[in-house]
Amino acid sequence: KRVLVIHGPNLNMLGKREPEVYGGETLTDLNEKLYKAADQRNVQLECRQSNYEGEIIEWIHRAEEEADAIIINPGAFTHYSYAIRDAAASINKTIIEVHLSNIYKRETFRHESVIAPVVAGQISGFGSKGYILALEAIAGEDNNE
Ligand code: DQA
Repeated sequence: KRVLVIHGPNLNMLGKREPEVYGGETLTDLNEKLYKAADQRNVQLECRQSNYEGEIIEWIHRAEEEADAIIINPGAFTHYSYAIRDAAASINKTIIEVHLSNIYKRETFRHESVIAPVVAGQISGFGSKGYILALEAIAGEDNNE
């Protein structure tokens, strides 16, 4: 399976950014873990990060041809980007939403995800492990080991 991981805005700042909330791991550390986990599951993984809404939308559109599933952490776009929500709804692929922090135990503006109603599921609050869980959910679908 081909899986595209999309890290949204400010996730390039992981490790430096509010480590008490997001942990000390950098995005490079996180991606390395994911590539390893993907190898073990025969998943062809590609990890990308963007701070731009339009770029994320175009990646989602292209995933219709280029990927079998998407794991996305939309960052703050989670809470207000109807455009990313519509992009997610426009393709016929499994999409899993991941958040490092538990968005429901933070500020009220983070309690709503406009993305969640159009994706397969959401994993929130397990740090980088959340991405691995998402990968397992996707790889498990046709894993005959
Ligand atoms: C986040 C949660 C969002 O509210 C925040 O804006 C982020 C990161 C998370 O991974 O916990 O940028 O998506």
